[in-house]
Amino acid sequence: MTVHFIGAGPGAPDLITVRGLELIRRAPVVLYAGSLVPEAVVAEAPADARVLDTAPMNLDEIIAEIEAAHTAGLDVARVHSGDPSLYGAIGEQMRRLDALSIPYDVTPGVSAYAAAAAAMKRELTLAGVSQTIILTRTAVRSSEMPAGEDLAELGASRATLAIHLSVNNLARVVRDLEPHYGADCPAAVIYRATWPDEEIVTGTLGDIRDKVKAAGFTRTALILVGRVLDPDAFDDSRLYAADHHHVLRPRKSG
Ligand SMILES: C[S@@+](CC[C@H](N)C(=O)[O-])C[C@H]1O[C@@H](n2cnc3c(N)ncnc32)[C@H](O)[C@@H]1O
Repeated sequence: MTVHFIGAGPGAPDLITVRGLELIRRAPVVLYAGSLVPEAVVAEAPADARVLDTAPMNLDEIIAEIEAAHTAGLDVARVHSGDPSLYGAIGEQMRRLDALSIPYDVTPGVSAYAAAAAAMKRELTLAGVSQTIILTRTAVRSSEMPAGEDLAELGASRATLAIHLSVNNLARVVRDLEPHYGADCPAAVIYRATWPDEEIVTGTLGDIRDKVKAAGFTRTALILVGRVLDPDAFDDSRLYAADHHHVLRPRKSG
């Protein structure tokens, strides 16, 4: 018996991995984070599978379900949105499973930040513009940010930012970032990337808040900030430069 933590991807049902889908198709027990996992993915479970939305459950209740499956020798597909390593609260589940000696593995998924970049048709790392992406969030009542990870501090890097769980905090995001990035820095908010009702609002730090307010997004939106979103100029990378040689493209002799 194994618990399979599976990334469901950002929303479009065909953006789960082949491995993740096969595990769900074989799983006698499927526990899924209902707020963001697409119904169509869960619908792939066997007709007689025990399928539960864990959104209304607490950690003890989730672990009790897994323990019951373990006792019965049944595999569990534990399905999280995007990639389970980001804001999925799988760490605490894995810690409990370790304590109970219940085996598990993890199948990665397409994360929202990658889906958002794809929706915008943008590269998030451009030579000479930004070579670093910070995946972060802002504090809410239930989750403080650890010391040193406030947006105002991270912003000093001027890296490309992918800010999760924060569309309702946009005023604060703008206030913290403007001193570092400038009011003219491109910003975008991608609502439900890859879902049928996906929407993208683009602007600058100076006007993004008003634009998003008008659009009315209040959840499931990712904020991207950085000059890579609308670069004035950037250099070609060295990777494909004609005068750059490496083991797979050696210098031609003669
Ligand atoms: C609990 S986190 C889960 C992140 C997920 N594990 C991942 O890898 O993308 C939920 C937040 O991720 C972002 N998010 C998840 N799916 C999204 C989507 N399809 N479009 C835009 N943002 C999304 C939003 O910021 C949302 O508030």
